[in-house]
Amino acid sequence: MAGILRYARGAGALTAATTAIRLAVGATYVAQAFLLADVLVTILRGDGVADQAGRFGWIIGLVVARAALLFAAEETRARTAGATKIAIRERAFAKVAELGPVHLAGDRAGDVTATLVDSVEALEGYFSRYIPALVAGIGTPLSAVVALTVTDGWLGLVVLAFALAAVTGPQLWLGVIGDRSDERMTATIALGSAVLDTMQGMATLKVFGASRRRRDELDVLGQRLIATWVREMAVALIAGAIFTASIVGGMAAVAWAAGSRLADGGLAVHAAFLALVLSAEALRPIAVLAESFHTTYDAAGAARRLDALFALEAPAPDVRPGSTPAAPRGTTPPGPSPALAAAPAVAFEDVTFTYPGARTPSLRNVSLRIAPGERVAIVGASGAGKSTLASLLVRFADPDRPRPDPQAAATQTPEPQMPEPRASTPGTAGPARAGRVCIGDVDIRTLPVDQVRSQVAMVSQRTHLFNGTVRENLLLTRPDASEADLGRAAAAAGAHAFVSELPAGYDTVIGEAGGRLSGGQRQRLAIARALLADAPILILDEATANVDAATEAAIHTALEALAAGRTTLVIAHRLSTVRDVDRIIVMADGRIVEEGDHTALLAARGAYHRLVTAQETAA
Ligand SMILES: Nc1ncnc2c1ncn2[C@@H]1O[C@H](COP(=O)(O)OP(=O)(O)OP(=O)(O)O)[C@@H](O)[C@H]1O
Ligand SMILES: [Mg+2]
Repeated sequence: MAGILRYARGAGALTAATTAIRLAVGATYVAQAFLLADVLVTILRGDGVADQAGRFGWIIGLVVARAALLFAAEETRARTAGATKIAIRERAFAKVAELGPVHLAGDRAGDVTATLVDSVEALEGYFSRYIPALVAGIGTPLSAVVALTVTDGWLGLVVLAFALAAVTGPQLWLGVIGDRSDERMTATIALGSAVLDTMQGMATLKVFGASRRRRDELDVLGQRLIATWVREMAVALIAGAIFTASIVGGMAAVAWAAGSRLADGGLAVHAAFLALVLSAEALRPIAVLAESFHTTYDAAGAARRLDALFALEAPAPDVRPGSTPAAPRGTTPPGPSPALAAAPAVAFEDVTFTYPGARTPSLRNVSLRIAPGERVAIVGASGAGKSTLASLLVRFADPDRPRPDPQAAATQTPEPQMPEPRASTPGTAGPARAGRVCIGDVDIRTLPVDQVRSQVAMVSQRTHLFNGTVRENLLLTRPDASEADLGRAAAAAGAHAFVSELPAGYDTVIGEAGGRLSGGQRQRLAIARALLADAPILILDEATANVDAATEAAIHTALEALAAGRTTLVIAHRLSTVRDVDRIIVMADGRIVEEGDHTALLAARGAYHRLVTAQETAA
């Protein structure tokens, strides 16, 4: 419960208001019970109905007031729901943005999507329905029980016993049998992400004739969902039965007790009536509570999911100007953000990096200095760690911290015997101090993330175009760019010609252009976007992988012009495209294994030579 309540921020006042209104509704029922008992006694006594006008007036007044209160309750409930959802989604989204792509790759993306949608819905129900129902479900019966006890202690006790049974009975049952809603939620999420995956991969499935098999797999997931649902329903139905039995049993017991006490003269007629009407009123709000009871399980599961999301460690806390940052040990404390040079140097110093959840590091003791304005190419087999290196420069993640315990380091690194050509600390398996990534000699962990990213324009291997217009996609990096800048960047990237041919030119919605944009065209838009960003450091990760030779040559010329005066990191598979850079770095298995220019590396007949020969043979 405490875990769930942490998510109340932003909707606390509204939840309280809804609760107060629910309590007021309960009060109208209790007051009405007193009036009704009075009326019944008077009628029974044989007095006319005529002089009851006052009481009837009150009862009608209560009914009207209750209608108004119920309306208000629904209104504030909806507001509470909205406020809760907005507050939680904002926090969760901020966290997702902070985590960045490295932490949200692969399976996690689907889970996080589900958390952002389903879990937030579940928590909304908890605050807008369950809490008000809980307070009213305790408060109203309690006031009725107190009123009854004043009239007759025994009757109060009977109602109290059954009210407690109605509240705790189903809970006990659910506690004994275990919580089934989490099971169902897991099955729902599994089916949901499988369906999404299938939709996105439809073309692949069709081409490989695998759509039938995939459908069978979805069938299995669907069956599993139905099975968990049926189990959950069975459990819930029995809980409902226990509950109903307690309520009905309570009313019957009160009727019996009141009747027999009335018969032996121990109870006044008025008190007997009051007991009958009040016991019904006392137990009524518990029914509302029972209806919303399942939300506690859903909400507890949802809070767990959100907790897990918030527990993920972001690359590092952002350093905001003026704040005291939790700077990792061993880094220079941030002074006023230093102005960075027009084409700053970039340095990786003894960087080791392990993806969250991965067993082995993807980068091992990488040290690389790129001079201001230098153009460096990184080549190497797939999985060598090229993109990972680039992602550290934009702080999608930070280098591993040193592990203080060499024992732990030895167990976590399965191959401590491997030669460590660049290890700066012989004798230990892990790095002894945190590696650093620097821009212009400043550790980027001490700079605000925004400042770091404003220094770097990146065309990544998996660039995403958003479902907006071409123009919106290009302006993403620089919303204030002029029309002329936009055209220039697009032309330089070889995108202007085909964009002009789209139905609405730069105002064509990308999603609607749909299949019309080829892989190469998308990539050219991504390049244009990076050009527009006009940052002093440029990272091109396979920027020209999807384009034909002629276009590639054109883009190359454009990039060449662009790279002038910028510090540039080119990652390329096609080695022919990087011959003329200043320096080529060869990576293998997370390490830098060779570096030099094309001629020198070829002459060395090492890893680079092997890569080139392999490509020439394949071509
Ligand atoms: N999000 C991730 N989580 C865990 N491991 C990852 C993640 N991304 C990459 N890796 C692993 O890190 C290693 C380096 O990957 P990286 O993407 O940097 O290689 P690369 O050199 O860019 O390869 P390619 O040429 O195919 O693009 C690989 O072993 C890969 O499996
Ligand atoms: Mg890559």
